[in-house]
Amino acid sequence: MLSIASIFFSVLLASASPARREICSLDFQGKNISITNGQFEAGFSSNGLTLVSRPISTAVSEFTAQLAISPSFGEFKLFNATEGLFLTNTGAALPEMLPIGSPISGAQNWVFNCSSCTTEGSPGNMLIGEGCFVTSLFDGRCLNISDAAPLGSPVTLGDCQAIGQSINIYTA
Ligand SMILES: *[C@@H]1O[C@H](CO)[C@@H](O)[C@H](O)[C@H]1NC(C)=O
Ligand SMILES: *[C@@H]1O[C@H](CO)[C@@H](O)[C@H](O)[C@H]1NC(C)=O
Ligand SMILES: *[C@@H]1O[C@H](CO)[C@@H](O)[C@H](O)[C@H]1NC(C)=O
Ligand SMILES: *[C@@H]1O[C@H](CO)[C@@H](O)[C@H](O)[C@H]1NC(C)=O
Repeated sequence: MLSIASIFFSVLLASASPARREICSLDFQGKNISITNGQFEAGFSSNGLTLVSRPISTAVSEFTAQLAISPSFGEFKLFNATEGLFLTNTGAALPEMLPIGSPISGAQNWVFNCSSCTTEGSPGNMLIGEGCFVTSLFDGRCLNISDAAPLGSPVTLGDCQAIGQSINIYTA
């Protein structure tokens, strides 16, 4: 009786939590990635340190994900290997690419919270994180690459729920 009851309970519990989220963490260490939403990706602005939406190009990676000091939390620094600049939450609406060593704690640490971390695709178009929030540890805001705004619109930081779990991560 007891075991039948507990099996019944397990089934109930399993079906009660279908939307359990997973955090892609160590999987990203050292990977070169594109951070995308729909047909756009976070790219570099030609005249400044901010980011703008660019046409998606999964074969070219803009960022290298480097594990931050607290690996158990799956925190990453995201840097542009060419320029040696790190994605930074300055506290303002627009994140910027700045040198390492922000005085604000957590301003250069990011957490990926994805609904799926299953690898799909082939080299040049390898999806490694689907339906993600990219959250700043400094203030809990999320990266927003709007696919409704025109191409070239700024990549911003905003309320995670308003932005939605819309980001897909590709590695070349
Ligand atoms: C990532 O990109 C950098 C710079 O282009 C390169 O040196 C490095 O080998 C790449 N890493 C991987 C894992 O492909
Ligand atoms: C790094 O950023 C510069 C602009 O600041 C850009 O021209 C370059 O393509 C970026 N590197 C990569 C690997 O995307
Ligand atoms: C991931 O995001 C979902 C949706 O907002 C949230 O419910 C969940 O708590 C987050 N998980 C972690 C570990 O942050
Ligand atoms: C996301 O960014 C776009 C501009 O690129 C902006 O219009 C929109 O309001 C932002 N969304 C949120 C929820 O912050």
